[in-house]
Amino acid sequence: MSAQNSHTRWRRPLRDYAPFPMGSYSPVIMKEAAARKRDGAWRRGLGGRDPVPCGQADASARPGQPLDGCASSRTPRRAPFSSSVNPSRVWLITGCSRGLGHALAVAALARGDRVVTTARNPLDLAALTAAHPDTCRALALDVTSPTQVTASVLAALEAFGGIDVLVNNAGAGLLGAIEETDEAEIARCFEVNFLGALRVTRALLPHFRARRGGQVVFVSAAAAIANYPGFGIYGAAKRALEGAAESLAQEGRPFGLRVTLVQPGPFRTGFIGASLAHVAAPLPDYDTTRGKFARTLAAMDGRQPGDPARAAAAILAAVDAERPPLRLVLGAYATDKARRTLTAAQRELEAWTPVAAATEFPTP
Ligand SMILES: NC(=O)c1ccc[n+]([C@@H]2O[C@H](COP(=O)([O-])OP(=O)(O)OC[C@H]3O[C@@H](n4cnc5c(N)ncnc54)[C@H](OP(=O)(O)O)[C@@H]3O)[C@@H](O)[C@H]2O)c1
Repeated sequence: MSAQNSHTRWRRPLRDYAPFPMGSYSPVIMKEAAARKRDGAWRRGLGGRDPVPCGQADASARPGQPLDGCASSRTPRRAPFSSSVNPSRVWLITGCSRGLGHALAVAALARGDRVVTTARNPLDLAALTAAHPDTCRALALDVTSPTQVTASVLAALEAFGGIDVLVNNAGAGLLGAIEETDEAEIARCFEVNFLGALRVTRALLPHFRARRGGQVVFVSAAAAIANYPGFGIYGAAKRALEGAAESLAQEGRPFGLRVTLVQPGPFRTGFIGASLAHVAAPLPDYDTTRGKFARTLAAMDGRQPGDPARAAAAILAAVDAERPPLRLVLGAYATDKARRTLTAAQRELEAWTPVAAATEFPTP
């Protein structure tokens, strides 16, 4: 890009660089956009990085199209959701440094999709961007930081001219009985597993609404199907997420939003190893419940039956499906658990239906 072009570019009105109609962004994103333009940082990611090696912007770019130069000349121009012509999609995935998020990014990139990967430390994403310089971008994102969410969603939208699929994968377990867990520990767990995912989703919803389509995948957990002693707060955060996702699926249907909840059983990642937080003040009385569960997890670490690469393939299949499932249970363990839970719930419901029915006013 010539110096002249570069100079001219930054003097154009902001709307010329917005890949979507200005009204399609939430007010908070537009405020951030204006601030970033003022300080000349429109193209920069967090910490002054430039996540998008953009060439000259194309003011004629239409909604859903990448801006000129924001994808390499080798990257074909595609309209999102043009699956009958080309099924390639643009993904935004949280927590790509390792584990399921990393495996999903690898799988999507391997089939030619474009992926905006995010991690708390973007250096963890260097290998991915080096392997896929044209189709992978890396952004810093800690989902517990509202300002980082706003900035990253803005940069992610700019990276390839839009997002087709958001995957809320970032999450972390907390091991502790209900009585053992203090409020700060509870709040931290909900920040990462519930509020963080909701924050990223809410920041992208105006975009999905404006383009009349999009997909949101929430990585929940088998603990949300039926919970274990010691996982009360973590499971509660994932269930809260599921409650919100169920509503979102209905609220978004009129504008083409598709929502999938992924419920993995044990997968071989850092989840029950280095990533697992433990409460600061365990009590001996919970040794036979929370303690026993903790020992089970410790013994299973490194031997989990679930393969992250196969989980990624399953998520791709769900996203590609004409009718993506609302719930996607992953692994034989979680499938058995879901089946047993549903059967038990059905049995209990039938047994107590007369009592439930007797609580209504008699029909006149
Ligand atoms: N593996 C399982 O058995 C299993 C079972 C049920 C549910 N899950 C769910 O699957 C998802 C992925 O976990 P995993 O198995 O891949 O575990 P993992 O290997 O521990 O990876 C967790 C990922 O989440 C990221 N993360 C944690 N806190 C974050 C934050 N505040 N902001 C942004 N990113 C954050 C981590 O980034 P850093 O590298 O920066 O820490 C990492 O990339 C989680 O939502 C987890 O609850 C996993």
